Amino acid sequence: MSLVNDLRIVLYFALTCILLVVSFFPEGWLVYFLVTTSDLGLIHFLLSPLYLFLAYSFTVLFFGVFHSQIVVRLTLPFLIKPGIYPRYSSQGRLIAVRIAADGIFKSMLKVYTALPFVWGIFLFPQLMRLYGLKVGKNVYITTRTYIETAGLVEIGDNSFIGYNSVVTGHANEGTSIVVSPTKVGKNCMVGTYSIVACGVEFGDNSILGAKSGVIKGQKIPPNEVWIGLPAKKLRNRKEKVSENRWKDTQEKR
Ligand SMILES: CC(C)(COP(=O)(O)OP(=O)(O)OC[C@H]1O[C@@H](n2cnc3c(N)ncnc32)[C@H](O)[C@@H]1OP(=O)(O)O)[C@@H](O)C(=O)NCCC(=O)NCCS
Repeated sequence: MSLVNDLRIVLYFALTCILLVVSFFPEGWLVYFLVTTSDLGLIHFLLSPLYLFLAYSFTVLFFGVFHSQIVVRLTLPFLIKPGIYPRYSSQGRLIAVRIAADGIFKSMLKVYTALPFVWGIFLFPQLMRLYGLKVGKNVYITTRTYIETAGLVEIGDNSFIGYNSVVTGHANEGTSIVVSPTKVGKNCMVGTYSIVACGVEFGDNSILGAKSGVIKGQKIPPNEVWIGLPAKKLRNRKEKVSENRWKDTQEKR
C-alpha cells in the first residue's frame, strides 16, 4: 500500500512536469515567431504583449483543466476524506501532495491580481471550482486571501473574504494533518487578517471581525458578529448600531 501511494506521488509529479512543459508551448512558439519574423509590421509589434497575455491565458486554462481533471484525479485522491493523517505515513504524504496540488494553479492565477475585481469575483472563485472549491454567487475573495484545501471549502452567496485572511480545510498539528470541511454560509464576512480553521461552520449572515480567528471545528451561529482569538460573540448582526456612532468616533479624535 505504501509503495502504491509513493508511486502515485511519483506519477503525479511526472505528469505535472510534462503538462507544464506542454502547457507553455503556445508562449514558446509565439516568442519564437515574434523573434524570428523580420517583417512583423508595426501593428503586430505593438500588439505582441497582448498576444503573449492571450497565450498565457490559454496556458493557464489548459493547465488548470488538464491538471485538475486528469492528473490530480488520476493520481491523487481528488476529494480528501476528513480525518487525521500521520504526516510521515505514505497516506499522509499523499494527502500533503494533494493539498499542495492546487498551489501551482493558484500561483499561475496570481498574474491576474493586477485586475483585483475580475480576479476576486470571476477568475479565482470560478476557476478554483476545477479543484473542488464550492462557491456561490457574488462571492468576493480579495487578491491577498488564502483559500487552502479548495476541495474542502464552501463559501455561500454574497460572502466576502478579507485580505490576508486564511480559509482552510486542513491543519498541520504536531506530526498529523487534520482534514475537515469548512463552510462559510451566505452573506457572511470574514474580516481582514483573520483565520478560519478547518472544520469551521459559519451560519448565514455572520461576521468575523478583523484579526480574529475561529478555531478548528468551531461553529458560528447565523446572524452573529464574532471577534478575537479565539473568536467570541460580540453581538447579534441585526442589533441596531447607534446612528451617531460614526459621528461619535470622529468627534473622539
Ligand atoms: C467586528 C466588527 C464588524 C464590529 O464592528 P462594530 O459592531 O461596529 O463594533 P465596535 O467597533 O463598536 O466595537 C465593539 C467592541 O468590540 C471591539 N472590537 C471590534 N472589532 C474587533 C476586532 N476585530 N478584534 C477585537 N476587538 C474588536 C472594540 O474594541 C469594541 O470594544 P469595547 O466595547 O471594549 O470598546 C468590526 O470591528 C470589524 O472587525 N470589521 C472588519 C472589517 C474588515 O476587516 N473588513 C474587510 C477588509 S476591507
